[in-house]
Amino acid sequence: MKQGTRIPALAKLLPFGTLAGCAGMQSALQPTGAEASDIGTLFWTVTGISVLTFLLVLAFMAGALKGSPGLRRRISDQRTIVACGIVLPVFVLSGLLTYGLLVMEAGSTRTASAEGPGITIVGKRWWWRVVYETPDGREVVSANELRLPVGRPVAIRLETEDVIHSFWAPQLGGKLDMIPGRTNVLTVEATEAGISRAQCAEYCGGAHAMMAMFVVALPPDEYDAWLAAEAQPAASPVSALAAKGEAIFAEYGCGACHTVRGSAAAGIVGPDLTHVGARHSLAAATLANDRDAFVRWIAQNQHIKPGNLMPPFDMLTPEELAALGAYLDGLE
Ligand code: CUA
Repeated sequence: MKQGTRIPALAKLLPFGTLAGCAGMQSALQPTGAEASDIGTLFWTVTGISVLTFLLVLAFMAGALKGSPGLRRRISDQRTIVACGIVLPVFVLSGLLTYGLLVMEAGSTRTASAEGPGITIVGKRWWWRVVYETPDGREVVSANELRLPVGRPVAIRLETEDVIHSFWAPQLGGKLDMIPGRTNVLTVEATEAGISRAQCAEYCGGAHAMMAMFVVALPPDEYDAWLAAEAQPAASPVSALAAKGEAIFAEYGCGACHTVRGSAAAGIVGPDLTHVGARHSLAAATLANDRDAFVRWIAQNQHIKPGNLMPPFDMLTPEELAALGAYLDGLE
């Protein structure tokens, strides 16, 4: 084979490389939730029927172009055209529509069955406020990470305080918009423990792509224990460096925008930081969660996520930044 013919052959295979993107923690094709599972089955059913239809059309075309005169006569017969051109499509499309409506109905039945405490997620620029309801009716404010109990349907109220965002955790369920002035309810039920990823699925400004978060599904007893811990005020600094960081946090007025429950910091502009150190990421799944990431974020956040509402604190000395990093990383 000549070189010239080999490259186009390889190029034809390239699109299959994109299939690699279908796997992983943000894949709708690897459901770990009841609704995503329904959607997955719907997807494969529709895809399967579409492929069969495509092959049927190809077979008819081949018959019409290359078939014997007898076959071509039968293909062009009016009864064949009515059967395959009208009756079959009506039958197949009506069947698919009914099936799709049943899947959607299953979703709303699940919504009605979610009786336990709910969760409210509010879209922000560009992060998520996540408010958990406890069994005794209190609210626990957190941010940029969603935790769910496996096997319990949970109603998630989706809201926004600025523009339209869209919540999409592909392994859990379908996407649903967050619309100003409205509360949309999405009910999800995690079917297995593990971490997946959610992404804002509606363009909401410059850093839209960096508006993501991890979704952590926990066994129900672990979830209950976690929520009880999350409801507690922040831990006291465990080291002298962290204590210095706490003082700098207060001195620079970080509490005007951030809340750290148990301290004077009670701002609501930015994410609640009471247990920020325990999350799997910083800045809505933009950075890892460690001291270095805190330091980078505080000093260079406009470089990391341009246009976000936090000013860069690049006037702080490396020592001050290190102390802040130690303090925030210790808020577990
Ligand atoms: Cu929020 Cu896109």
